[in-house]
Amino acid sequence: MQIILMGPPGAGKGTQAEKLTGELSIPHISTGDMFRKAIKEGTELGKKAKSYMDQGKLVPDEVTIGIVKERLAEADCNNGFLLDGFPRTVPQADALNEILFELNKSLNAVINIKVARDELVERLTGRRVCKACGATYHVIFNPAKEEGICDRCGGELYQRNDDKIETVGNRLDVYEEQTAPLIKYYQEKGLLKEIDGSKAMDKVLADILAALGRE
Ligand code: AP5
Ligand code: MG
Repeated sequence: MQIILMGPPGAGKGTQAEKLTGELSIPHISTGDMFRKAIKEGTELGKKAKSYMDQGKLVPDEVTIGIVKERLAEADCNNGFLLDGFPRTVPQADALNEILFELNKSLNAVINIKVARDELVERLTGRRVCKACGATYHVIFNPAKEEGICDRCGGELYQRNDDKIETVGNRLDVYEEQTAPLIKYYQEKGLLKEIDGSKAMDKVLADILAALGRE
């Protein structure tokens, strides 16, 4: 199964992808996570991506398309994949069509998770992430058992640079301008499944699985 998880920053793409990847036995491919790893490791890719990410802007298409193309050609993607945060522009969506064509694959569904802007701001500014394993928490909606420490691996929790209130508004505007047009793009291809992301995390998961015919 080839699936795209779409939705604005904070909609719950990463949260749901973590659960879905186990249910569907396909890898979770998040361009945001790939860029954060590259920044942490100080690679050339990380140096290119950092200033864009810190300002809440998109990393240029040619950089992003290149890393996705490489990643989707890896062996663990043979039986499908779950894309989170890609594509985010029309040129990226067109490039994905070409990549899929070359791999002799097609998309099964595009899941669009919808959440109101006020709620997104609250989710993003309260998010905490484990430095070691990447698990995601929220200070109110999904707190760690012990403050600042990951339940799963004991790692230290931190706030993403781009989750500071001054960057969050910019990210949401960039989403509206550059990514929201993809909703119509995939609707016209008959692939779009709309999901109400304002519900509890388990209900959102159940709704996504139902939309994929996996109840
Ligand atoms: P990326 O890492 O993809 O960030 P994003 O799209 O802004 O999305 P987030 O990760 O912020 O939100 P999410 O939907 O995953 O929400 P989460 O599950 O964590 O991208 C970061 C940056 O990288 C971009 O700004 C850009 O610079 C660059 N980039 C990445 N991809 C790119 C591309 N294709 N092209 C160009 N540049 C690219 O949930 C959020 C919070 O809400 C958490 O605290 C969670 O616990 C909580 N929560 C989740 N679900 C619920 C629920 N149902 N109820 C209550 N709380 C919930
Ligand atoms: Mg995410």
